Amino acid sequence: MRKPIIAANWKMHKTAKGAEDFLEQFKPLVVTNKEVDIVLCVPFTLLSTVSQGIKGSLIALGAQNMYPEEKGAFTGEIAPGMLLEFNTKYVIIGHSERREIFGETDEFIKQKVNKALEVGLTPILCVGETLEEREKGFTEAKCRKQIEAVFKGLDKNLAQQIVIAYEPIWAIGTGITASSEDAEETIAYIRKLLAGIFDEVTAEAVRIQYGGSVKPGNIKELMAQPNIDGALVGGASLEPESFAKIVNFKE
Ligand code: PGA
Repeated sequence: MRKPIIAANWKMHKTAKGAEDFLEQFKPLVVTNKEVDIVLCVPFTLLSTVSQGIKGSLIALGAQNMYPEEKGAFTGEIAPGMLLEFNTKYVIIGHSERREIFGETDEFIKQKVNKALEVGLTPILCVGETLEEREKGFTEAKCRKQIEAVFKGLDKNLAQQIVIAYEPIWAIGTGITASSEDAEETIAYIRKLLAGIFDEVTAEAVRIQYGGSVKPGNIKELMAQPNIDGALVGGASLEPESFAKIVNFKE
């Protein structure tokens, strides 16, 4: 059985005060929830505050990006060891905003995933198609390209540690969610790809999230799908009550 994993992606939001206020309200709301892995992927400037704030809870810390080198002349970048210093467990890699706004390529994303795995960080690897690609019927081809770029040639034990987030770009921040059936269809396809690259057992072990306008109102339906193992949540993760409702979807 795959344990559900629900991650907040705070993107470029919140200051330390905002993060403290969030935790004060959020922690009591999820304290009894042991059935879901809860992750907060926060801006680098909040790693310290949130790391302190979640001590003693079951909430895990995540970052939103990293550079695939230990150290060096990479102005403005963050090394994996810098994330580990704050007990960071997860790192989002290849979010569509990184790919589209900052020009990250599949090759660069593969380097980042490999580096994260090497140092013991769990990558949350984002894949997904644009609206134009969906309308042209290229959804599967796009996901296949992004998945194969990272997983082909990878050791299957390492592959199982990766969390995949399927995020159709047209559903991110737009209020338009993929229907749970559409999300399930593409996520089932991604699992089939993994079975082809590795084997059934490996494919069944990998956790695949859906992301894109996930809200308290649609999480139940998404989580009822057999292949959807969790969610990566942007906008609705900024408010403690709404994110707690998503995390506590079973109640
Ligand atoms: P959203 O963002 O929930 O605001 O659509 C999701 C994401 O980009 O990870």
